[in-house]
Amino acid sequence: MAEAQEQQRGGYAENVSAAELAEVGIRFEVDGEIATITLDRPDKRNAQTFATWSALARIGESLPERVRVVVVKGEGPSFSAGIDLRMFTPEGVPGQGSFASAAKADDTSFDQLVDQAQQAFLWLRRPEIVSIAAVQGHAIGAGFQLALACDLRVVADDVKFCMKEPALGLVPDLTGTKPLVELVGPAKAIDICLTARVVHADEALRIGLAERVVARDDLAAAVAEKAAELLSTNRDAAVATKRLLQGARGRTLEEQCAAERAEQAARVRALFG
Ligand code: ACO
Repeated sequence: MAEAQEQQRGGYAENVSAAELAEVGIRFEVDGEIATITLDRPDKRNAQTFATWSALARIGESLPERVRVVVVKGEGPSFSAGIDLRMFTPEGVPGQGSFASAAKADDTSFDQLVDQAQQAFLWLRRPEIVSIAAVQGHAIGAGFQLALACDLRVVADDVKFCMKEPALGLVPDLTGTKPLVELVGPAKAIDICLTARVVHADEALRIGLAERVVARDDLAAAVAEKAAELLSTNRDAAVATKRLLQGARGRTLEEQCAAERAEQAARVRALFG
């Protein structure tokens, strides 16, 4: 029944229509247990606006339950060139403001504004799904942070990660600082962010930013392969294991052992009880 309804909607999440998404330059497709989000403004190198983030958050809110893997990719030569540079102009992005208008907001409104934008990124870490960023070409600023919001990054050999915010007088605030530090350690994160230098594919692989580097033409196939591998394990065990792994850093060994016991009790009862 749910599947039939979903097919009627053309596979789109409940509260986002294909037309609405197209307007902000996003495509969203669900094929079985795999959902694919495509940033689709290649002529603007998939630059992101508040409308992009609002649409991404709504996709997350209404993701069909059967989805286990979410692929995030960008159309054209670049994954994403980051925030739309019109934000830096006095006119801003039509209907969406500018940094100049945001500067006039009081603390609470500013906090809410960024919190809303962060919702686009946060759901990609949910234990119920594994998110894979398929990254080619430039992943700058918000583009880098979108890739960091995903659990895994499969990249093309022409990838160029760059945390440009500090060069522009800003901080990275789209949920990217924590995964960056956790992946590469604080020293390397400071080096990457405070120089705003480009991290190429070989370094990305070496320092743990990327799980796999492939030729540009092989990116889609490599991501499909990874998705199939992820779908080959038991769904409930995968969710419970991701919960355990995500919580590991914040727990002592004893606490983590207790968490393992609790998750396993639920698994064993579900399987053999
Ligand atoms: N916002 C809006 N438009 C953009 C952006 C962007 N972030 N990036 C590229 N574009 C547009 C260009 O203006 C150009 O548009 P036009 O054809 O209408 O003139 C088009 O995309 C193609 O851009 P080129 O620069 O010609 O493409 P190229 O492939 O040579 O270079 C690159 C790509 C390196 C990404 C370059 O466009 C660039 O440096 N963009 C800005 C990156 C940036 O500073 N982002 C902000 C980071 S900070 C943050 O995200 C919070």
